[in-house]
Amino acid sequence: MFNMTQIETFHKSSIRAQPPASEIASAARILRDGGIVAFPTETVYGLGADAFNAQAVARVFEVKKRPRFDPLIVHIHDVAQLELVAESVPAGAWKLIRKFWPGPLTIVVPKRPAVADIVTAGLPNVGVRMPRHSVALELLRAAQTPIAAPSANLFGRISPTDAAHVREHLAGSVDMILDGGPCSVGIESTIVSFAGKVPMLLRPGGTPTEEIENLIGELCVPEPTSQMSASPGRSLRHYAPATPVVIATTPSILPGLRKGLLAFTPQPDYITRDFDVVEVLSHNGSLNEAACNLFAALRRLDQSKLDVIIAKKFPEQGLGRAINDRLSRASQSKRIEP
Ligand code: TXA
Ligand code: MG
Repeated sequence: MFNMTQIETFHKSSIRAQPPASEIASAARILRDGGIVAFPTETVYGLGADAFNAQAVARVFEVKKRPRFDPLIVHIHDVAQLELVAESVPAGAWKLIRKFWPGPLTIVVPKRPAVADIVTAGLPNVGVRMPRHSVALELLRAAQTPIAAPSANLFGRISPTDAAHVREHLAGSVDMILDGGPCSVGIESTIVSFAGKVPMLLRPGGTPTEEIENLIGELCVPEPTSQMSASPGRSLRHYAPATPVVIATTPSILPGLRKGLLAFTPQPDYITRDFDVVEVLSHNGSLNEAACNLFAALRRLDQSKLDVIIAKKFPEQGLGRAINDRLSRASQSKRIEP
C-alpha cells in the first residue's frame, strides 16, 4: 500500500501548465503601474516590484513583514539590462554570468544610483540575477523594467515552491499571483558578491559552489560575525517551520514526542518505525531532486502536528551544501516543548 505523504512528494508537482499570455501581460501592467506581483522562477516564487519605484518596493517589505535592513535581489531578462542597475561588473562576475545565466545565480556588484536605496537596504551594492524560467523571463520582458523580488513568503518562513504556498501566506495582500506550476530547482539562488577585493559566497544555493569555483577559484565565506554587513538577512533564523527542527546523526532520540523524519533517501524500517511521519526527498539519491522537494516536504511536516522534525545532514556537495545551509538555519534556537 502507498503511503500518502510520499505520493504527494513525488506526484503533486505536475498539475499546472503555463499561465496564458494575457495573464502575464496583466501582471506586467500591474508591475509597470507600481503594483506587486508574485511570480514563478526556477528556484522559488518571488514577490516583485519595479526596482526603480521605491513606494512599490516598500509595499513588498510591508506585505512580507520583512525588516528594511534585508536587501532584495533585482531580476532582469537580458544582460543588456545590467547596465541599468550595476555601476560596474568585474571580469570574474562576467565569467559566471556567461556560464550560469539565465539560472540560479545572483551576483552582487556596485549599484547605479537609479536603483532605489530601499532595494539594497542602503548598501552601495545590488544583487542581480536572470531567472531560468520562461514565465519569469516573459514577465520581465513585458514589464520593461528590472524587478526587485524577494521570495514570496512571510519573512523568516519557508520559501514557496508553488503558487499554493504563495497563497497560504500572501493571498489578499498582493495584486496578483501568477501561477507557473512548481519550481524546478526548489532552492534559492547561490549569491556571490563581487563588492569586495575577493569574490565571496554569501549564500549557497541552486548553482553548485564547486562549479563556480572551477571557473573563478576558491570563494571566501564571510565570518559569522561579519555576516550582517556582508549579507544582511543571513545571520537570522530563516527558512523556518513553526515546528522545531533538529539535525541529528542518530535520529532515534526523544522518546515520547511526536516526531517527523526528513530523510534524503528511503530509510530502513528499523529507523522509520520510530517516526509518526517520514518524508523522503529522493528515491535514488539525487541531491537536485532532494532540493526540489525540500521546502514542500518541510511544509507538510510542519502541518503534521509534530513536536519535532529530525533531519539528517546531507552530503556536503552539489546542492547538498545549500540544503544543509537551509536546514541549519531552520534549526536555529527553537525550543522543543514536549
Ligand atoms: O532564488 C532567489 O534568489 C529568489 C528568487 C525569487 O529569485 N530570491 C530570494 O530572495 O531568495 P530573498 O529576498 O529571499 O533573499 C535575498 C537575499 C538577502 O536576504 C540577502 O542575504 C541577499 O540576498 N542580498 C540581496 N541583495 C544584496 C546585496 N546588495 N548585498 C548583499 N546581499 C544581498
Ligand atoms: Mg527569502
